[in-house]
Amino acid sequence: MKGIVLAGGLGTRMFPLTKVTNKHLLPIYNKPMIYYPIRTLVNAGIDEILIVTGGNSAGDFLRLLGNGKEFGLKHLNYAYQEGEGGIAAALSLAEYFADQDKIVVVLGDNIIEKNIRTAVDSFRKQVEGAKILLKEVSDPQRFGVPAFEGDRIVRIDEKPSAPASNYAVIGIYMYDSKVFDFIRTLKPSERGELEITDVNNYYLRQEKLTWDVLEGWWTDAGTFDSLLNAGNMVRQTGANKRG
Ligand code: DAU
Repeated sequence: MKGIVLAGGLGTRMFPLTKVTNKHLLPIYNKPMIYYPIRTLVNAGIDEILIVTGGNSAGDFLRLLGNGKEFGLKHLNYAYQEGEGGIAAALSLAEYFADQDKIVVVLGDNIIEKNIRTAVDSFRKQVEGAKILLKEVSDPQRFGVPAFEGDRIVRIDEKPSAPASNYAVIGIYMYDSKVFDFIRTLKPSERGELEITDVNNYYLRQEKLTWDVLEGWWTDAGTFDSLLNAGNMVRQTGANKRG
């Protein structure tokens, strides 16, 4: 299984912090943001990793990360996303790297307390389809939100004004190799992006989407408040714990 960190987009929500640098190079307590999603993959036993970056300072990722020695990696792969076409558009750039393998995708601004090894190991055994991870949150309207019938997800709504549950679909997704064919059929949403929620709903309609609830805390770091919160959480309890 291969890992992909999506660190593209222009980070416009965070101007002026992102006017001259890339959002994923901003500090989360004592490390640049991009360190956390890479560590998430490495701790799950994934050592072939592609970083999709974009926007400002793309060259700085190479200077910062090099071949990933700090993470015990032999090398890192890089791709460049032009503009801000959406998460699924950034993911489409990974097709060549994935090369028919299953993939674990981590959004570059998602940080977790513990690890996802159990979920990744269970997806290794899943014959086909996709797997998502959920976390109960107090502000689901900021995220992709699952609607349940019993313990079955029937739909995922992207940033709903009236959320159907208190769960967020977090930015860690596992897909089989068919994901790239489906992304090719996607049309941009109202916000002009190819939405990862449309990808997850596709697998749901095929009845090939499994899900787990993530253990430990999770946060994104893509707004001023969540960036501050992420730094505080990391300072208080540490992130990417192996236990
Ligand atoms: O954090 C989890 C949430 O992430 C999910 O619950 C939502 O369903 C999903 O749409 C996404 O929501 P956001 O609107 O918060 O995503 P955002 O645009 O902030 O992008 C998150 C990361 O994805 C960003 O740090 C880098 C990557 N990305 C995003 C875009 C728009 C790219 O690589 N390229 C892009 O064009």
